[in-house]
Amino acid sequence: SSVLPGIQERTLIAVKPDGVQRRLVGDIISRFEKRGFKLVGLKLLQAPEGILAAHYHDLKRKPFYPALIRYMSSGPVIAMVWEGYNVVRSSRAMVGETNSAEAKPGTIRGDYSVHISRNVIHASDSVEVAQKEISLWFHSDELVDWELCDYSNLYQ
Ligand code: PPS
Repeated sequence: SSVLPGIQERTLIAVKPDGVQRRLVGDIISRFEKRGFKLVGLKLLQAPEGILAAHYHDLKRKPFYPALIRYMSSGPVIAMVWEGYNVVRSSRAMVGETNSAEAKPGTIRGDYSVHISRNVIHASDSVEVAQKEISLWFHSDELVDWELCDYSNLYQ
């Protein structure tokens, strides 16, 4: 399993409050499962202010920052860590452009979002940022390192 460099790459994916409220969680998880990525962390939480402030630290001076924090605090989010080859870049492609109007049909935002201020999902935008975001949202003991095994025999 260690022959392919990057196979253990991880990314932080968050279904934002609108995605949870609109019952899109199952569909979104399904897309990542079917693509072939491995789920290594998952939780539903009301995002604490401190986590959001750190997560969006670079946007503090943007005019939309207060609205962004209000939106992200408006209900629970699903935080997930997905693992696999090039998962950071592939996830960004699955999520689609940040600006919903530019997000292509077939992407998560292109299928479910019409405005940037309610864009359903977050995905880390680089491997370095992913590592920071994962350690911000998860304790190390909440991440599970598991191996695929053969369940083609359904009975024993
Ligand atoms: S990106 O893709 O991270 O480079 O996008 P960027 O344009 O830098 O935006 C960073 C995050 O800010 C959110 N955003 C907004 N939220 C609310 N209203 C407005 N107008 C707005 N513009 C940008 C955008 O969704 C990004 O959030 P995340 O959670 O990273 O997707």
